Amino acid sequence: MQSNLIYAELLKKVKNYSDNELKNISLKYLYLKFNLSSSDLLINKTVPWNKKTQEEFKIDIKKLTNKIPVQHITGSEFFYDRVFHVSDKTLIPRPETEELVDVIIKSEKSNHKKNILDIGTGSGCIAVTLSNHLTSNVIGLDISKAAIDVANKNNALTSNKVSFITSKIENYIPEEPFDIIVSNPPYIPKSDEDKVDKNVLIHEPHRALFVGSDPIYFYKIILEFSKKHLKKNGSIYFEVNQNYIGQIKNLLMGYDFDIIKDLYGHKRFVVIKT
Ligand SMILES: C[S@@+](CC[C@H](N)C(=O)[O-])C[C@H]1O[C@@H](n2cnc3c(N)ncnc32)[C@H](O)[C@@H]1O
Repeated sequence: MQSNLIYAELLKKVKNYSDNELKNISLKYLYLKFNLSSSDLLINKTVPWNKKTQEEFKIDIKKLTNKIPVQHITGSEFFYDRVFHVSDKTLIPRPETEELVDVIIKSEKSNHKKNILDIGTGSGCIAVTLSNHLTSNVIGLDISKAAIDVANKNNALTSNKVSFITSKIENYIPEEPFDIIVSNPPYIPKSDEDKVDKNVLIHEPHRALFVGSDPIYFYKIILEFSKKHLKKNGSIYFEVNQNYIGQIKNLLMGYDFDIIKDLYGHKRFVVIKT
């Protein structure tokens, strides 16, 4: 089947989105489902099309109309430089987190082997990408066994270089200290639930999104953890909630830290040098 025809079918049959949203979602679906890029569409590349593909396509159109995230339909999302497995048990990796990973890769590139810990690893997108770009031993840790299963599938695609551990950070005692600790922890307090997009609330794991009543709970826990398990001259990289940046700055009083804005101009990343 010609890719332009598949694209046209999506634009015609999927309902419940604005024109712009529908274009973006359709292009993402074509990429994740059929590996079709925008240039493939320009040359109207042909996609193998059998009865099974046709049936799946019909079902996918219904799911898209029912606002199931395209990443859950295809079981995948692009992150940094490759496609990752995702499920409804993992957060769908966000573009901001790609920026965080880029900051780390650019700052930490050296031949010196480093021990890195990614806390709240989810799909393993941060851990696996860092292990591909830095000469490092990487450990990814998450409270959710179901998320670690997905992270291990992603690890298998790049020769199982990361060690994934199912544990609460509160209970984790590592064997060796780390040079780098990175975390994109849950950072939405329960009281902000009404500000979260309804579709995110329905489809993404609440344990990945919400933090209880204290929005900076995980930063406190990780700083305590790093006092015992981060080497001298180590680094901590956090993704943070811009709405609570004041509280985070107070928490970091006495530390050597920088705040970096994301592409939208939001204060989103904190880099701490110890
Ligand atoms: C915001 S998600 C980040 C997922 C992934 N690192 C990413 O950036 O896409 C936070 C993750 O922290 C995990 N988590 C929540 N509470 C935890 C805890 N107490 N200890 C370890 N992980 C936890 C959740 O299961 C979830 O996978």
